[in-house]
Amino acid sequence: MSNIKKKLEKPQYGWYVKNLVFGFTFVGLIGIALIIISLYRIGVWQVILFLGGIILIIIFLWPGIGLAMMNIILDSKDEDITESFTAINENQNSKILDIGCGTGRTSLKVAKMLKNGGYLYGIDIYSKMAISGNDLETVQHNAELEGVAEKTSFKFGSATEIPFDDESFDIVNVSSVLHEIHEKGGQMKALNEIYRVLKPGGTAYIGEWNRYSFPLILYSGVFCIVFKPKQYWKKILEKSKLKLKEMENQGGYILFTVQKYKVSPVL
Ligand SMILES: C[S@@+](CC[C@H](N)C(=O)[O-])C[C@H]1O[C@@H](n2cnc3c(N)ncnc32)[C@H](O)[C@@H]1O
Repeated sequence: MSNIKKKLEKPQYGWYVKNLVFGFTFVGLIGIALIIISLYRIGVWQVILFLGGIILIIIFLWPGIGLAMMNIILDSKDEDITESFTAINENQNSKILDIGCGTGRTSLKVAKMLKNGGYLYGIDIYSKMAISGNDLETVQHNAELEGVAEKTSFKFGSATEIPFDDESFDIVNVSSVLHEIHEKGGQMKALNEIYRVLKPGGTAYIGEWNRYSFPLILYSGVFCIVFKPKQYWKKILEKSKLKLKEMENQGGYILFTVQKYKVSPVL
């Protein structure tokens, strides 16, 4: 690729749940059609069609438009994450693992913070349902376009079976991934894996949406039910071997900072 073309090309991070956004919007538009048809009917059919239309709009058009807006907002603003990831600010030569890196929207921002030999590894199962265009080639190409290809490396791997040795990383990041692990005990398995690959004293950042938050309800309507409440994540983290240090509310998205304590020598 010529240098000029490379300079003009922008990274493509894809849309979260793009297929659902279009599916929901389509069904929601049928709701509007039902309301219009109800205006030309009388009696019980008018009521049924009108109420049916309202229900389809609330259940489907709301999240269809809401999630589309969320994706448009994410694509248009370059959110600064440097304030939240204090462990990286303190140690810019860290070895970092980003679990569920997807197309690299968060990973590559983290990679940009690294200096002096810092390196980021990303793993994902690359689910196309989660993000459109989600694959290994996309994240590698985005890394090139963001100018961080030399300090990043990506491969296929699951949160519940992390393909790295014990105590390999100073920092682990997991942005909006744990809620996608549906197998029984899978989330705790992932937390155990994070504990395993972290060096003693290492920090993990775990970000999840809070079901009962205004921005999430605004974006996803009744489908906010797919996400867990903040208390659920707090409890599961407290049950794990990791130590909960901090919870930062970033507009409905909760960033949990946890740590693997250095084991004190037994006297
Ligand atoms: C909502 S996206 C978030 C992507 C990325 N962290 C970001 O901030 O843009 C969730 C990602 O988690 C990935 N994922 C889901 N289950 C996973 C698992 N068990 N192990 C690794 N990645 C997983 C999906 O493929 C998807 O890329």
